Amino acid sequence: MSFSSQVFPVFWYQDHVRLINQNQLPTSYEIVEISRCDDMATAIKTMIVRGAPAIGVAAAYGMYLGAREIETSSRDQFLTQLETVAQKLRETRPTAVNLFWAIERMLKTARQTVGNVDYIKEVLLQTAQAINAEDIATCEAIGAEGLKVLPSSPARLRLLTHCNAGALATAGYGTSLGVVRSAWQAERLERLYADETRPRLQGAKLTAWECVQEGIPVTLITDSMAAHCMRQGMIDAVIVGADRIAANGDTANKIGTYSLALVAKAHQIPFFVAAPLSTIDFKLATGKEIPIEERDPAEIYQIGNTLICPPETEFYNPAFDVTPAHLITAIITEHGAMKPEELLPLQTKQVV
Ligand code: MRU
Repeated sequence: MSFSSQVFPVFWYQDHVRLINQNQLPTSYEIVEISRCDDMATAIKTMIVRGAPAIGVAAAYGMYLGAREIETSSRDQFLTQLETVAQKLRETRPTAVNLFWAIERMLKTARQTVGNVDYIKEVLLQTAQAINAEDIATCEAIGAEGLKVLPSSPARLRLLTHCNAGALATAGYGTSLGVVRSAWQAERLERLYADETRPRLQGAKLTAWECVQEGIPVTLITDSMAAHCMRQGMIDAVIVGADRIAANGDTANKIGTYSLALVAKAHQIPFFVAAPLSTIDFKLATGKEIPIEERDPAEIYQIGNTLICPPETEFYNPAFDVTPAHLITAIITEHGAMKPEELLPLQTKQVV
C-alpha cells in the first residue's frame, strides 16, 4: 500500500487546467475545466481551489491562460497587457502570499525571456508546470523534515490540525498534512484529530476526506473541543499550515489557529507550522502588516440553505488570524525546521 497522496487538486491536462471542485467535497468529486484566465480568477475567489500553495499554482496557470488570450505580437504591448492579467489575479484573495509570489515569478519570467511573444507564452506554460511540480516535491520534503522534529515520545503520536493544509491545499501531498502523512508512513502516527474549522468547515469536509481516502485514522472534533482534548492528555502536538509568514515568524493561517496556539501553550504542547519558503513574506517585518481577508457573512449566518440566527444580527467574518511567533515551537520548511527567529537566512534561497 502506498501512503503517497494521489490527490492533485490543480493540474494541466492537454490544453487546459483541471481543478478538483473543493466546494463539492466530500459529497461529490467533480472536476472543473478551466481554459480562460477570468474563470481561473473566479475559481480562486469562490474557493473551488483554495489553500495557499494551491492558490499559487492556480494563479501561475491563470497567468499563462491570460497570456494565451493576448493577441498582439509586440513584445512591449504583450508585457503591458500581462500586467493587467496579473492585476486581475492579484485581486482574488488577499492573505495567501503564494498567490502574489507565483504571479511575480511568472511576470519576471516573461520579462526576462528573450524571444518573440509566442516563445514567451511557451516559456510561461513551462514555468507554471514547473511551479506545479516543484510544489509537490517541496511538500514531500516538508513531510520528511517534519518527521525529524516531531516529539520523540510517545512512539505513536496523537496530532491535532486545523483547516486543511493537505494535498487539496497544495499541488499534492500537503504541508501540515504532509507531515501527518510522513508520520503515518513511518508508523509514528496513532491518530489525527481534525478541527472542523468554522465557518467553511475545511477540516470536516476536506481534511477528514483526505484521511479517509488513505486510511489515516482521523477523529473529527469541533473547534471548541480542542482545549478540552488537550487537558484530557489526548494531544501530543499541534501542526498547522500557513497562508503568510512575516520575517519575524508571525504566521497568518485559518481563523482559529491563534486560539489553538494559545491553548497549546497553556498545556505545554508543541505547536508546529509547516509551510514552503514561498509562504514566507520577507518584505513584512511582523504579522501586523499581513492583510486579513474578510469573507461573505453568509458563511456564518447560514448552514447549507438554513438561516441559523435572527436576520437582524450583525456579523464579522475574518478568514484568517495571526499567531505571534513566540507561540510557535518551530516552522517546518523544505529546508528544515527552525525557530521563528531563525527564518531570515532562508531569504537568499527564495526564487523570486
Ligand atoms: O481559506 P482557505 O481554505 O484557502 O485557507 C486555507 C488555510 O488557511 C490553510 O491552512 C493554509 O492555506 C495552508 S495550506 C497548505
